[in-house]
Amino acid sequence: MRPLQLTLAIFKPDVSAQPHIVKEIKKILLTNSFYFVRSKELYLPRKRAEEFYKEHEGRFFHNRLVSFMSSGEISAHIMARDNAIKEWRKLMGPTKVFQTVHSDPNSIRGQFGLTDTRNSTHGSDSEESARKEMQFFFPEFNVDQWYKEKEPYFQNGNVSFYEEKGIHVEDIPSAHILKQETS
Ligand code: RTP
Ligand code: MG
Repeated sequence: MRPLQLTLAIFKPDVSAQPHIVKEIKKILLTNSFYFVRSKELYLPRKRAEEFYKEHEGRFFHNRLVSFMSSGEISAHIMARDNAIKEWRKLMGPTKVFQTVHSDPNSIRGQFGLTDTRNSTHGSDSEESARKEMQFFFPEFNVDQWYKEKEPYFQNGNVSFYEEKGIHVEDIPSAHILKQETS
């Protein structure tokens, strides 16, 4: 089996302000076989938002976008799944909500998006940007180490979801605990 892929998901300020929508989107991710590897809630200062969306500098929507992204709480999530990048973007639906409500009404943006800017969620668009974006929000997270030490647990489904932290954690084999207790 090929290794799981990691991607970065963001619940944008429009979603984060509505706890019941946050719950709904998390449920959609869980029922679509995504694992939550890391999660954090934060405010993105304007300067950081400008840095994150540097690729869109000069576009007509850039100022609107960074103002929006720094207007309220957001949450960032490292998600794992087979083909995670494409599958998460498929669940989100196309960028522009005013069209997406007609073309993909059941997608996340189709259901919850408010405008073309306030479009609920973000998803990395390539492996390269996923790495960069995970590093941006989780500088303490080591991707290579995760693949070496944790990915096999996730691949085999030997993980449990911890509600209070909102992430999946590997199930420690009892032999390992025994070894720890007796050493
Ligand atoms: P994202 O980066 O948020 O996952 O979205 P995306 O790849 O589908 O879209 P992208 O082209 O990267 O644009 C980033 C975000 O900019 C805002 N936007 N507004 N008003 C507009 O026409 C417009 N176009 C883009 C959206 O918030 C979009 O998600
Ligand atoms: Mg994008």
